[in-house]
Amino acid sequence: MFGYELPGELRDLMRGCDVRRHPHYEAGTEIYLLQRGDERLYLKVARGGGLGREWLVLRWIGDRLPVPEPVWFGEEGGREFLVSGEVEGIPVYLVYEGDRSDAVIAMARALRMIHSLDPSGCPFSYPVEGKVSALEEKLGADGPGLSWLREGMPAEEPVFTHGDYCLPNVLVAEGELGGVIDWDFGGLADRYVDFVLAVWSLGYNFGVGEAERVWAPLFFEEYGVELDRERFRYYWRINELLD
Ligand SMILES: Nc1ncnc2c1ncn2[C@@H]1O[C@H](COP(=O)(O)OP(=O)(O)O)[C@@H](O)[C@H]1O
Ligand SMILES: [Mg+2]
Repeated sequence: MFGYELPGELRDLMRGCDVRRHPHYEAGTEIYLLQRGDERLYLKVARGGGLGREWLVLRWIGDRLPVPEPVWFGEEGGREFLVSGEVEGIPVYLVYEGDRSDAVIAMARALRMIHSLDPSGCPFSYPVEGKVSALEEKLGADGPGLSWLREGMPAEEPVFTHGDYCLPNVLVAEGELGGVIDWDFGGLADRYVDFVLAVWSLGYNFGVGEAERVWAPLFFEEYGVELDRERFRYYWRINELLD
């Protein structure tokens, strides 16, 4: 099923489990569902450093937020392996149309909770300066709009952010938050990093017009923020260029 060597400890952990490939085909990551009796665990396999970061972030969060319980992490043959507990629910982008409003409200409240977490000891930090530098490296300092990003850099107000706050990463069950998954970009950053991705994702999944008219206003009302348009535009541009 795997086509590569699994770490010995992981093989031990998986003994007696029914293993199924989860239908998720995002480039680079494989997801498996491990089931033993009533216990369900998820195994993520990927190359690069993302799962090592996710492991550290989940351990740092602990039980302070509804997130998967980190169970085991290891590396073998250039791959990383992360086992975590199940979060219940279905991703927000899959809810029935009539349930979207409850799901968006749950998603906004969850983000408020994430941003309110005590950030002390957080293992990662992603200052905007680093992103602008990376863009300058990628596109050249005189690349399109880069001087605007460099000169117009807003003073950051770092909080703990998710870093990939899109609809597939927030799970809801019966209109309530189940939990938030996929933490490999979790770390200190400006809260607008999560705002722009949430809005982009609402548009991608529910339609741009509807997102602008209905879902984004509802999201920010529930979060409880008067949006700073200029700040929003700034982080939106960074995201566009980083893609
Ligand atoms: N702990 C978990 N609980 C429930 N579902 C999970 C869990 N981990 C992964 N999944 C499922 O696998 C999918 C991909 O996992 P995710 O961590 O978002 O990986 P990726 O980084 O590839 O987006 C999710 O959309 C979800 O359906
Ligand atoms: Mg994901």
